[in-house]
Amino acid sequence: MAPGIKNTKLIRSSPYIAGKWFESASKTTFKVTDPATDKTIAELPDQTPEEIDHAIKSAYEAFKTYKHTNVYDRAKWLKNLHSLMMENQDDLARIITWENGKCLTDALGEVKYAASYFEWFAEEAKRMYGHTIQPSVPSNKVITLKQPIGVVGLLCPFNFPSAMGTRKLAPALAAGCTAVLKPDGQTPLSSLAIAYLAEQAGFPAGTINVVLTSTKNTPMVGLKFCESPLIKKISFTGSTRVGKLLMKQSSSTLKKLSMELGGNAPIVVFDDADLDLAVSQAVASKFRSLGQTCVCANRIYVQSGIYDKFADQFAEKVKSFKIGNGFEEGVTHACLVNESLIEKVEQHAQDAIDKGATALVKGGRLPELGKHFYAPTVLRDVSIGSRVLKEETFGPLAALVKFDTKEEVLEQCNDTEFGLASYVFSENLGTIWYMSENIEAGMISVNTGLFTDASMPFGGVKESGFGREGSLYGIDDYTVIKSITLGNVYR
Ligand code: SIN
Repeated sequence: MAPGIKNTKLIRSSPYIAGKWFESASKTTFKVTDPATDKTIAELPDQTPEEIDHAIKSAYEAFKTYKHTNVYDRAKWLKNLHSLMMENQDDLARIITWENGKCLTDALGEVKYAASYFEWFAEEAKRMYGHTIQPSVPSNKVITLKQPIGVVGLLCPFNFPSAMGTRKLAPALAAGCTAVLKPDGQTPLSSLAIAYLAEQAGFPAGTINVVLTSTKNTPMVGLKFCESPLIKKISFTGSTRVGKLLMKQSSSTLKKLSMELGGNAPIVVFDDADLDLAVSQAVASKFRSLGQTCVCANRIYVQSGIYDKFADQFAEKVKSFKIGNGFEEGVTHACLVNESLIEKVEQHAQDAIDKGATALVKGGRLPELGKHFYAPTVLRDVSIGSRVLKEETFGPLAALVKFDTKEEVLEQCNDTEFGLASYVFSENLGTIWYMSENIEAGMISVNTGLFTDASMPFGGVKESGFGREGSLYGIDDYTVIKSITLGNVYR
């Protein structure tokens, strides 16, 4: 049991289908490990394709009635779920730290963030407004209705075991859709805990279904979701490579898709920026969850006038991190989820050093703490052709690059196929506007390194994907617009 869990009912070990903790007939299981200790914390059924079909069918049956539920009831269930998450926030955070490794303070922040989507969409549920339109024939009138799209398949990643699922579930349930959620095989326990609380919150059986498979079997679930005619929409958060595959696989059913894919976020710090603010926010952005977020700063461009000062202050801050087991008091940064993330950090760091970068903070593996611990690396004078500037690192490596003019840095910011988040630090309104308008990204964060919130539209452009999560727009991805023409009304 995770250290300090009080409400042990939150720890579940079976899939949740049709309002029941489902007895899987699968002959195989998969292990969930604590990345900090590498110990097995759960052994769960690796569900069969037939059981995934059963979950989809259950969601389909539930949709027939759930779509007609009173929107005020849906809002009430969503509100209840928010309250239950807040009541159990400490336990839910412990589950996140246990399965994902992030430190407890980050995990607690994630639970509040995750729960806030239920609160936000409880309110948005009542605002699925349509329009009245005057067509060209005067005696005809057009009314539009927003209706739930149907059963949705939600494919979630390991980096935010709670929040990435709730960001999808909340608008789906608010709109009147039913869902089959597939958590990452490395971090499934948080989703099961949310399913347990959703049951307490009053959601009808079959509206929320959580299926379980190993990471090895995840492509099978993806294919099932894509090819099922019963699933009308898929929302995916993960890599651009997998996003493209899902899109290809979905062509036979012409599925509506939302894709929140890879990023390669630049931070641009101008000479006139508030230096202390820029340093602390760049560190916060780069090392949130140790770099395992799609919106983390991947490239840090600093103007030549403040470059040296910025680099020194940035390095000093990183040296003050306390790295350790996420459950330990005072730990600021814990471990990564798996070893392949560390390998990528090492490859990117070595490549940049080979191309002329110097290490301000060397960093490296910390085997005395465990095999997933890595002290952050900070590099300065990273040259333009380096891999770290082209590809998402998704780990604790900070790459600093010097620039002179805003035109030059803008070109470098946009020299990527990705376009998720970007950050600008300046006190000059003209500079801020020039960069915000011209950077090719779905989200620009000005003078802050932490910007995500249920109220803001989250999503990318280019190969970072499409669709928006959260905000007043987030529900649109789960609805279809129906137009009703009232003819000859002046008879
Ligand atoms: C992500 O990594 O995609 C999510 C980050 C966030 O929502 O803050």
